[in-house]
Amino acid sequence: MIRRRATNTFSMDEFMNTIWNTSRAATLASGLLFLSTATCQGQNIPTTWDEAALASMQTPLRDPSRTPKHMSASDYNRIPALVIYRTYPVYAHGREPAGYLEQLRSVEPEIVFDPARLHSPEDWARAGELIFDAPTFFDDPAKSRTSPQWFPAAGVPIASDGTYPYSRYVIRKKGQIELGGNACADCHTKVMPDGSVVKGAQGNFPMGALNSQGLLRMAKLGNPAELLEKNVKPLLTTFFAAPWIRPDPAERLAKLTWEQVTDLISKMPAGVMLRDGTTFDAPPQIPDLIGIRDRRYLNHTGTHLHRTIGDLMRYSALAQGAELGSSWGDFRLVKEVPPFIRRYTDEALYALAMYLYALKPPVNPNHKDKQSIAGSIIFEREGCGNCHKAPLYTNNQLIPASAIGTDPELATLSRKGTGKYKVPSLKGVWYRGPFGHGGASPTLEDWLDLARLKGVGSRKPVPGHEYGLLLNPREKSELIAFLRTL
Ligand code: HEC
Ligand code: HEC
Repeated sequence: MIRRRATNTFSMDEFMNTIWNTSRAATLASGLLFLSTATCQGQNIPTTWDEAALASMQTPLRDPSRTPKHMSASDYNRIPALVIYRTYPVYAHGREPAGYLEQLRSVEPEIVFDPARLHSPEDWARAGELIFDAPTFFDDPAKSRTSPQWFPAAGVPIASDGTYPYSRYVIRKKGQIELGGNACADCHTKVMPDGSVVKGAQGNFPMGALNSQGLLRMAKLGNPAELLEKNVKPLLTTFFAAPWIRPDPAERLAKLTWEQVTDLISKMPAGVMLRDGTTFDAPPQIPDLIGIRDRRYLNHTGTHLHRTIGDLMRYSALAQGAELGSSWGDFRLVKEVPPFIRRYTDEALYALAMYLYALKPPVNPNHKDKQSIAGSIIFEREGCGNCHKAPLYTNNQLIPASAIGTDPELATLSRKGTGKYKVPSLKGVWYRGPFGHGGASPTLEDWLDLARLKGVGSRKPVPGHEYGLLLNPREKSELIAFLRTL
């Protein structure tokens, strides 16, 4: 299935490519490199594909017979490694230096990740940024459906230096400028209102807006209903497949019309992203990676334990393509890992994880004052601190979806269905949002608004997590003032 789509990619419409760029199959890449597990320059680099560690880091799914099992180490190590080329900024129209693209055309390809040159932990963390930025998908910028030419209409934020920091150009062949895709940076980068860039924060690339505009362009060109049935639905079905779940979400998808699909996609706010194994109508909030070192579970449903840096390396490998080789009981996404899939080397994953561990939050402009001190008392009085326990502002536990009462779909009706939601850390809520595992609440004010239970304006009801909803307006402001200092 995946392979058929891969060969189709370049003849598909804009929307398909946009979805494609966010998909597991987008791990299209090129190059080959070396295998590695060794100790490097005094760093003890864990083996990513340690079968025992992979098995023990996996949280059981609600139906434990469907808890994923991953491919063998020998199969994994046969996947060719991704070559990490130098990447270059993408500028907003009119903001690029004079002759920028001309100059890029004369640049030689350059392989930038060289573990032999890395000595101190700081060296590794710095090199990890190259991996974070490294695309695993390459496209012709003129033809790409996620081309910067569509960004202004979709409202893609521009950084103060004139760049779109979510995308990068890559030179893998002299004279050929490619647009990179599916890098960690695409989803995990935030442009703040003042134009500063916070890497690792909950991203704000408006993929929903970009996709829905692609759909509108498409609708003008051809027969949208046919395209929906032939291309969009099969892709979404595979992306979100969990055929053992009853009711099967694929049946719900099968009933959707073109208008309903467009509507669902256009409502996906920046900060929320389609991701493999979730569901098509409950995409997850992009988690903030700043502070990841202290988190015991990964993903909203806590699918993976995070015990060591090796676990974060394993998670990154799985999330960016290697899960294609996994099986959920008798269900597999593909018969074998398609030949175009690439993996990061162990050194690259180690550098990446060191980079993530070293991420620092932006400087918090919200200082402790009378109002926030009053809020901190309310926080403890209301029991928030039992779950969002200082100093991490999480107790690092999972809670049954039925107990927290929020939309149970992701935790129960998806391939990531552990039946539970993670208690998220509240650190950094001042610079992030939308909130909740599906990003259903745009602001903290909304999260604490009683009216959200029934739906505010045109928004769907946001059930559950009823803590603090009955506070009076002054207390709510104080509580929020406190949360913004974290
Ligand atoms: C297409 C967008 C996208 C890309 C590309 C992407 N991520 Fe994510 N990432 C997400 C989303 C969405 C989630 C939440 C998934 C969930 O909860 O099921 C997530 C979750 C995570 C988590 C779990 C964090 C937590 O606190 O639960 C980590 C760690 C992570 N990503 C790291 C990475 C790294 C490293 C890369 C690159 C190798 C990467 N991601 C690429 C969108 C993306
Ligand atoms: C019983 C444990 C528990 C208590 C008590 C609790 N929370 Fe939570 N909180 C959670 C869980 C679990 C989530 C994730 C829910 C989801 O997304 O489905 C969450 C999510 C949040 C979020 C969204 C964070 C994000 O990153 O999206 C905020 C904000 C929050 N809680 C604030 C509070 C405040 C303020 C209180 C007290 C008034 C409180 N919580 C009490 C468990 C708790």
